[in-house]
Amino acid sequence: MKNLALLIFASFFFSCTSKEEILQQQYSVEGMALYQTHCENCHQADGAGLRNLYPSIQKTQLSPEALACLMRYGKKGNGYMPANSKLQALDVAELVTYMREKWGNKKQVFPTDSAKMALQNCR
Ligand code: HEC
Repeated sequence: MKNLALLIFASFFFSCTSKEEILQQQYSVEGMALYQTHCENCHQADGAGLRNLYPSIQKTQLSPEALACLMRYGKKGNGYMPANSKLQALDVAELVTYMREKWGNKKQVFPTDSAKMALQNCR
């Protein structure tokens, strides 16, 4: 029992999981759930979209701020993406964090404060 405790302690000690990494993982996991609820219907689980109805979002060039506004307010171009007023700053932050990791290959939190700012500055 003592050995087990020691082992657990050691693995925490040596895993070098920083606070930032833990937060990134939390945001990403939550973001995936939100993606499944709010986005997957159209853009599909792999983000590839659906024929010419829904665009692929795998290689989007939009900034995190632009993504935040798009998620909340939708977009009407050749197609139509509805607004989603249910998404709060935290949701948007988690969604962007998830998208970054999944398709941007970048493990970095998009902070809730930044999402909040972005949402206040949508045009
Ligand atoms: C009802 C279907 C639908 C849902 C739900 C939806 N989208 Fe979209 N999305 C679209 C359509 C259609 C477009 C293209 C709009 C246009 O023609 O400008 C689009 C565009 C986009 C783009 C822009 C791609 C680019 O680079 O130009 C991104 C990124 C995106 N959606 C992400 C999301 C995310 C994230 C969610 C969930 C929060 C979501 N979408 C929910 C249909 C949807």
